[in-house]
Amino acid sequence: MLERGRLVAHGCGTANIRCSIPHERRPLRTSSASKTALGSTKERCTVPSDTRPEHVKYEERYRAVYAAGVPFAAGDHGHESVALCREFLETRTQRGKLIDFGCGEGFTAAMAAEFGYEVLAIDAAPSAIAKCKQTHTHPHLRFRQADVCELGEIDSDSFDFALDLGCFHMLVDDAVARRYLGHAHRVLRPGGFWYGQNLVPADDAAAWCPHERERVEWWRERISEQSDGAPITDTFEVEGKTVEVTRPHTSAAFRGVREQVSLLTAAGFRVDSARVVTPGVNSPFEAVLVARKPS
Ligand SMILES: C[S@@+](CC[C@H](N)C(=O)[O-])C[C@H]1O[C@@H](n2cnc3c(N)ncnc32)[C@H](O)[C@@H]1O
Repeated sequence: MLERGRLVAHGCGTANIRCSIPHERRPLRTSSASKTALGSTKERCTVPSDTRPEHVKYEERYRAVYAAGVPFAAGDHGHESVALCREFLETRTQRGKLIDFGCGEGFTAAMAAEFGYEVLAIDAAPSAIAKCKQTHTHPHLRFRQADVCELGEIDSDSFDFALDLGCFHMLVDDAVARRYLGHAHRVLRPGGFWYGQNLVPADDAAAWCPHERERVEWWRERISEQSDGAPITDTFEVEGKTVEVTRPHTSAAFRGVREQVSLLTAAGFRVDSARVVTPGVNSPFEAVLVARKPS
């Protein structure tokens, strides 16, 4: 349930940032519909034929991209979303220890280190972590290969901030998502922040961003165009050459804002603010949530 007293709800934001990198995140066709608290239709992705955990498929994706010599495995959160997170990082009055969940290629983590945070960035995909270690060398930035649902080795109450740019929505199964949020809550100190940017269904985009009708329809079509979990081929321009990369389809849980809030709340967080944004011209709609572990 949405905690109205504490939740700051903003309308839709569109950061006017162009992305020169192909931005590909094709979710699965929605298969079922039910009424949400927003009174709209809730879209849920189908269970793909490839039921391996998403990070296993991501590992294949990173490998395919690197084998093709594509410099940035884009299509994940891309630069547009990273830019949105910048505001959160920049406006904190105090820095501290920060954990980046599902860091991908580490661009957000590197940005946080530049801003003065002491960063541990984790991802379950070994190739991504290897790439991160090669690419980013800031002295206050560490990378570790780990599953966000298995963080027993990380001390409780040891981080001031947690970032989640597109990791929560990779945990399609709610039970797995709960396990992750349990760890996220545990490793944060009381008062610590969890900042998330994760996909929402088109109906949430419509409800939160009523003036973005065309883009909402685009997003709705985008969600439904991927029907069967078949491998995806992306085209990249690399040094004047066109390179095709085929990789497994990865799916995402299109949790509405209320559903995201309710999972966070059940894990013990207090959600301070929520908004739905579309960060750039070719970007999907995502919820930007700021939650805290109560002091
Ligand atoms: C959509 S990408 C986002 C990457 C990065 N945060 C960004 O903004 O570019 C999701 C990332 O989450 C990672 N991931 C998915 N499930 C995970 C898990 N259980 N544990 C750790 N990482 C996971 C994937 O390997 C992938 O790199």
